Amino acid sequence: MPARNHSQWSATPPLAGDEWVDSRIYSDEEIFEEELQNIFKHVWVPVCHESELPEPYDFRTTSIANEPIIVTRGPDNEIRAFLNVCPHRGMLIERRPSGSFREGQPSGNPKRMTCMFHAWQFDMKGSCVYISREKEGYQDRLKKEQTGLRRLRCEVKFGGFVWVNLDDQPIPLEEWAGGPFECLRKTLEAEPMEVFHYHKAIINTNYKLWHDTNSEFYHDFMHYHNRVTGFTDSYFARKNEAFEHGHVTVGTFEVNYAEYEGFESRAELSFPHLPPNQWYMIDLFPGINFNLRGSALRCDVVTPLGPNQVMIEFRGLGLKRDTEEERNTRINHHNSIWGPFGRNLHEDLVGVQGQGATMGKGEPRRVLHGRQENQTIHDENGMRHYYDEWGKWMNRSPSHPDQPFTQRSSVAAAE
Ligand code: FES
Ligand SMILES: [Fe+2]
Repeated sequence: MPARNHSQWSATPPLAGDEWVDSRIYSDEEIFEEELQNIFKHVWVPVCHESELPEPYDFRTTSIANEPIIVTRGPDNEIRAFLNVCPHRGMLIERRPSGSFREGQPSGNPKRMTCMFHAWQFDMKGSCVYISREKEGYQDRLKKEQTGLRRLRCEVKFGGFVWVNLDDQPIPLEEWAGGPFECLRKTLEAEPMEVFHYHKAIINTNYKLWHDTNSEFYHDFMHYHNRVTGFTDSYFARKNEAFEHGHVTVGTFEVNYAEYEGFESRAELSFPHLPPNQWYMIDLFPGINFNLRGSALRCDVVTPLGPNQVMIEFRGLGLKRDTEEERNTRINHHNSIWGPFGRNLHEDLVGVQGQGATMGKGEPRRVLHGRQENQTIHDENGMRHYYDEWGKWMNRSPSHPDQPFTQRSSVAAAE
């Protein structure tokens, strides 16, 4: 067909209603706010890894759905999460991204979280342990026992990741993500892991487009590395498997790293209980990805900042027991393909930024998710499954976002 005029371009594609989505779900402010309220305030987010809080009194700060969060390790070694908000007058309690409360600060007692505004203090369990001039100001009307921090659901699970949920009554974490983690559980829980790489990127695109890129492999045509090391029969036989709650996994195969000039087999540093050079992916709704390429695990977590802006945090993990030489090799494997300057990561970012450039403004567009290939690697069933879940949480149809959600046909057929 020749290039199309406006009405042809705007017409509904000749695909089923669940095989495309409307680009307003990537650009509309109201939909974005609803996503924070309806989705991000109720899902489990792996905000960091336990190895980033190795000692008692270590902490990290982050945010979920615009709510500031602090994660601490107590003297009892328990990792806990709280809103990073002072119950007095709403000050952000801790402003550093990470650190330790063990030593005193110019405006903070040792072993306490101290709000610098009026010097209220909290212990690692979130209890308020000191209100400055408590009696004088409050007599007995308000006591420190009544002014603890807001604790949040927090669990260390699936290989030592620290999962936080803003909802006090969430779907239990095991029920939420146990199914998709089954393929890697033995491997990730065999022995302690350690984060050796962290960087973040703020990208002008919608967070769902990033997640799509992590869960669809048709775009391997963009990755020269993947074409050279991967396009074998066993690659094309990889299966996308859909799980409850919108999650998807992508089955493994043996990658031929040595086919790419300058690369080497990763067999010697393969994670425990895995054949050499495997490549698994776990994509969790609404935007979390675990990507194990033989010798290095990558974890991406999205923090949506606006309809057309997302912060992505990237972590690289190896085994805690690595020798210095093993660790350096693992870092090299990680960085040469990912890292902040790895080839594949940049290509992915170029792809999703290009999408963000066309969808942020202007007329609604149709984004196609209609490939059907027996749920193998280039089938787009993973994205259809994801958007079906999105529709349920939002009560909006992904292809007609001004209409309520109804179960979509081909997803139902596949389940
Ligand atoms: S706002 Fe924190 S002590 Fe006053
Ligand atoms: Fe990619």
